[in-house]
Order: sequence, then C-alpha cells, then structure tokens
Amino acid sequence: MGAKQDKKLFIKTWGCQMNVYDSKRMEDILSPFGYKTSDTPEDADMVILNTCHIREKATDKVFSELGRIRPLKEKKAESGQQMLIAVAGCVAQAEGAFIMERAPYVDMVFGPQTYHELPEMIANLTDAYGDNRLVNTEFPHENKFDFLPEEHGSQGVNAFLSIQEGCDKFCTFCVVPYTRGSEYSRTAQSIVDEAKRLVDQGALEICLLGQNVNAFHGEGPDGKTWGLGRLIKEIADIKGLERIRYTTSHPRDMDEELIEAHAIEKLMPFLHLPVQSGSDKILKAMNRKHKTDIYLDVIEKLRNIRPDISFSSDFIVAFPGETDQDFEDTMQLVRDVNFASAYSFKYSARPGTPAANMQNLVRDDIATDRLARLQALLNEQQLAFNQSSVGLTLPVLLEREGKREGQLSGRTPYFQSVNVEANERLMGQIVDIKITDGYAKSVAGEIVTYETISKETA
Ligand code: SAH
Ligand code: SF4
Ligand code: F3S
Repeated sequence: MGAKQDKKLFIKTWGCQMNVYDSKRMEDILSPFGYKTSDTPEDADMVILNTCHIREKATDKVFSELGRIRPLKEKKAESGQQMLIAVAGCVAQAEGAFIMERAPYVDMVFGPQTYHELPEMIANLTDAYGDNRLVNTEFPHENKFDFLPEEHGSQGVNAFLSIQEGCDKFCTFCVVPYTRGSEYSRTAQSIVDEAKRLVDQGALEICLLGQNVNAFHGEGPDGKTWGLGRLIKEIADIKGLERIRYTTSHPRDMDEELIEAHAIEKLMPFLHLPVQSGSDKILKAMNRKHKTDIYLDVIEKLRNIRPDISFSSDFIVAFPGETDQDFEDTMQLVRDVNFASAYSFKYSARPGTPAANMQNLVRDDIATDRLARLQALLNEQQLAFNQSSVGLTLPVLLEREGKREGQLSGRTPYFQSVNVEANERLMGQIVDIKITDGYAKSVAGEIVTYETISKETA
C-alpha cells in the first residue's frame, strides 16, 4: 500500500472517549497512505465503524448502520471501484465472527488492540494474493502504543491522550475486560512526550484517558513505577498546557498521591467518579470491590484538598437483586454527595458477563420507575449546581460554535457547558466569563470585558 493519490476515509465512532481517541489514531495511521478524513461515507474508499458494546442493542446499531453503508459500496462497485468496510472497536472484538457471517459485504473486523496493523490489513485485502476478508481480534503480545506513529494530527485546543488500556476489575455487569483485554499502562515518558506534542499543536487542555485511568502504573523515567498522581505532576509542568482532566476512574484506585494531586491548579476541579450503586449489597454483587463508605471517604478527602471540586458519577439501576431498599440507598448516596452531573442507566444483561446468568431480575416497569426517580433527583442537583454558579466569573475554554448564531461554546473548570455571545476570534482561547444563568444542562454567561474588570478592581 504505497502513498498514491488521495483516498477518502470515513470513520463513525460510538462509545467512550477511548474510542474517540482510537479513531483519531486510525486517521493518523492511514494519513501517510493518502487517506483523508471525510464527514460523509458517500464515495469513501474506506469506511470504519468504531463500535461500542457497553449496553444493549449495540450489535443492532452496527447492523443498521451497515445497512446504510452497503448500497454506497454497491454503487461504488458498479463503477468498478472498491469501498472497504471495516467494523472496529468493542462490538467487533466481541462479535467479530458473527458480523462476518451476517454481513458478507464487511471486509474486515478488528478489535481495539489490533488497529495499529491497519496498513498490513488493508494491503492484505487489496493484494491480489491476499485473503478477501479478515478478522483480527487476537490480543497481540506487543502493545499497540509501541507501533502507533509518533506523528499525529492536531486535536485542537482540547485533546485526548490514552495512557492506560483495558481493565482487570471484572465488574459482573461489564464487557470491557473482555473487549479491551487486561490492564496495560504506557510508559510515563511516552505519555509526557505525546502530551508535549499535543501542546505544540495547540492543545490547552488534555484529558488523560483509560477505562480505569487511575489504575495507571507506568514505568517512570527514574525506573520507578509511577501512579496517576505522579504522572499528573509531571504533565502539569508542561509549558503552555493550561488544563488537565482524567477519566474514567475507579473509587478503589484513588490513592493518596492522586488525591494530593488535586491541589494542582491545572488539574480541573471536576471528577467523574462512578459509584454505580449506593447499596453495599449490590456493590458486592457487582464485584465493585469497595463499599459506599470508601466512596464517601474519597469524596471527603478530595473536598478537603480542593474545596470547590465537583463530582459526577455513573449509576446502574435495577441490577439483579436490587430491592426497593437498595434503590433507596442509592438515592440517599446521591443526596449525601450532591452531584454536579451524572449518567444513569437501566441494567442491561451483556452476553458473556457473570451478571447475565443471575436469576433475580428486576421487573422492567420497576426498573423504569427507579430510573425516572433517580434521574429526576440527579437533574434537580445538576440544575441547582448550575444555578449556584450564577454571579461567578469563570475561565472558559471556548472550543466550538455555540447554540445560536454569534455564540461560542465551551466548558467551565467544573465541566459545565457554556454558551456565550463572542467574537469568532476568541475561538480556542480561555476567556473569563461571568455566569448569568444556570439551566438544566448548561449555563449562560457574558464575557468579562476590560471595562468591567477595571470597574470591579477600582
Ligand atoms: N470504567 C468505568 C465505566 C465504563 S462503562 C468504571 O469503572 O466506572 C460506563 C458506564 O456504563 C458504567 O459506569 C456503567 O454505569 C454503565 N454500564 C456498564 N455496563 C452496563 C450494563 N451492563 N448495564 C447498564 N449499564 C452499564
Ligand atoms: Fe467495567 Fe468495572 Fe472495569 Fe469499569 S472497572 S471498565 S465498570 S469492569
Ligand atoms: Fe464502549 Fe468499548 Fe468504550 S464497550 S464504553 S467503546 S471500552
């Protein structure tokens, strides 16, 4: 596969930020071979569906998307051209063979740990002597980070950086340990180098990623094993980098060094720390490996070190065996913590996970009712949090077009979405914004101008 004339690449991404990062890296891998990313699949030379398997209907979604892509491939074939269709990511890892069987027009299937082999895979398919179709879902001995190109396209002002892969926690409801494989940490040096390159390309904010990002235990340049707290200290020293975030973390892996790192100014005062349930009995059945008191203790320690820190979480309602009382315990935990935002889901049985064999299922109407009650409480807390920001002046990284014409949109340190009237040239900058309104899912504000600053300080 040599660098020839431009080819059109279309990638559609579902799922977590790690998939978003992986899709970017696929672009980086294919770019030296002439592939240019496009927003539409029409006429593409290569279509990659980067999929997520976390909750129900994941496979259905992939097949319905494939149904839309298939006629485009046939149309291309009529004019004697080829459109390669690949299914990547976590559905590919879990259901690769099934996809190949049911969708004969899919050319290749590969998992989250083999995409660094994309050029070879494509060469193999397009070579007259190669196989016509391939499935590449082994967990290779080498790790992909050693093979990904150093060069990467700019991710703009806020960039994702994967530092850790896989998960060894085996929560009983979760597919991730099976789709992403076992835990692996990159070396600290390779992460710091990548962070520097991202900053050179304009990143002001970097979000460190891992399915279990605070289980990070990478080899440091000093030969010692570094935890996430140590790594954040190092990254915070990068000149030009203004903001650091990390996601997703597990309550069990919030060690002292990481908690202390939250005193670092550049580490944003917002943490997504999923708890799933407020019932110790359910946490045990989920194999979360901690009780609620550990969670509350971590929250308290973090609030001591960074008084303005705010939290979000993930919740699963109606896990098998969840009684009314267990659910009330979850509601109580939510009241005790007071979240700035949260995601909540009805439990869905995932093939191959231990919980899928559990018998004591919660009736769906009860599950629906619990989810609605939990979401009402979480929405109330989010609105209250957003309204509590009114009157504050907060630095906001303006990163995209706003909701309305003439507006730009960005995030506060607390990860609230802000829409503000702003000149286009402020795009990509961190601007002081006075918050004027708090809504259900966002806040609104005004840019603090020089005049108002001088008035306030006069
Ligand atoms: N690594 C993260 C979670 C990754 S999955 C952690 O440990 O918290 C993102 C969220 O999806 C989970 O936090 C959980 O709330 C939800 N989820 C995962 N599997 C699920 C399932 N089988 N049913 C419903 N929700 C699920
Ligand atoms: Fe899944 Fe649990 Fe691992 Fe999170 S910690 S990815 S929920 S197994
Ligand atoms: Fe989904 Fe895989 Fe991420 S299952 S949440 S894309 S790790």
